Amino acid sequence: MDGPDLDLLFADGLPGGRLLFANAAPHRALLPARDRLVCVQRWKPAADALARAGLAVGEIEGTYDAAFVRLGRQREVNRAMLAAALDALGPEGELRVAGTNALGAASYARDLRTLGLAPVSRSKAKARVFSVRRGTADPAAWRNLAAPRVIAGTRFVSAPGVFAWDRIDAGSRLLADAIPADLSGIVADLGAGWGYLAHAALARCPAIARLDAFEADAVAVDCLRANLASFGARAKAHWHDVAAGIGTGTCDAVLANPPFHDAQGEDRALGLRFVAVAAEALKPGGRLLLVANRHLAYEAGLEARFSAAARLHEDAAFKVYLATK
Ligand SMILES: C[S@@+](CC[C@H](N)C(=O)[O-])C[C@H]1O[C@@H](n2cnc3c(N)ncnc32)[C@H](O)[C@@H]1O
Repeated sequence: MDGPDLDLLFADGLPGGRLLFANAAPHRALLPARDRLVCVQRWKPAADALARAGLAVGEIEGTYDAAFVRLGRQREVNRAMLAAALDALGPEGELRVAGTNALGAASYARDLRTLGLAPVSRSKAKARVFSVRRGTADPAAWRNLAAPRVIAGTRFVSAPGVFAWDRIDAGSRLLADAIPADLSGIVADLGAGWGYLAHAALARCPAIARLDAFEADAVAVDCLRANLASFGARAKAHWHDVAAGIGTGTCDAVLANPPFHDAQGEDRALGLRFVAVAAEALKPGGRLLLVANRHLAYEAGLEARFSAAARLHEDAAFKVYLATK
């Protein structure tokens, strides 16, 4: 994988010793160090890409000689990631951080200065890299910024960085309201987030024997497990890339509030891929319930793969479909 921030992160080569890479992505510079490198990655498609490149994906364990951090979109998540990287370094360890200018990379160098550090910074091709010796900086204020917490006014837990992490998504709420009470057997939720929709389905439909909640974000999967725990064996959360498929002819119903963004921006093909995966997973006669932003065109995809498709609801923002295999 390329990117101006990734290239800049490794432009000066790799230091010796044990290496940590947080929010990791494959890069050719990493291959010679693969035996002394651990990559941390919560997003399953990116974790799968690292594994395909022959790079080990795991958790932070023990002390490292250098830590690389690739900044993401969410400020709390980035600060917590910087804290975790600093905590994983010995006093002489190097912290090296890169991000695109669009993510406000320079502001994180300023953040490090508030800890008494003096990062050395360089920018090129709309990205910035900065590095610093760990010293004795104490990132206490950042450690718990991305920790799971209860969403105000609910019994659900979520965490910064998870989709719609601090609220019930309006599209998921609309779809939940449209779930027929007679859903039964094996049901899948594609892109289950922290679990609002999955929870609503299990609570409304006593004949659901098992609901498999598939989600790419590992932190969301932790929240799913907590939010669906009261359903015991009726609920199972999977850290999984839905685009890779979920099986053939195994489901009685599928629920989906598909994503239309990936890490790079709007990606309409991903939503259509969710429709194809749902069609493949359903038994004959099985039902797909899908909500989509109004501006997205799912009609042709539904008509091509299902014997019938009806619009159950439409408003200024969303459309809800019921399609039968
Ligand atoms: C529009 S949200 C739906 C959230 C959820 N259904 C709810 O009840 O609020 C789409 C979800 O799909 C997840 N997602 C995106 N790409 C994915 C992929 N390739 N595989 C699995 N999940 C994915 C996102 O992380 C996000 O949680």
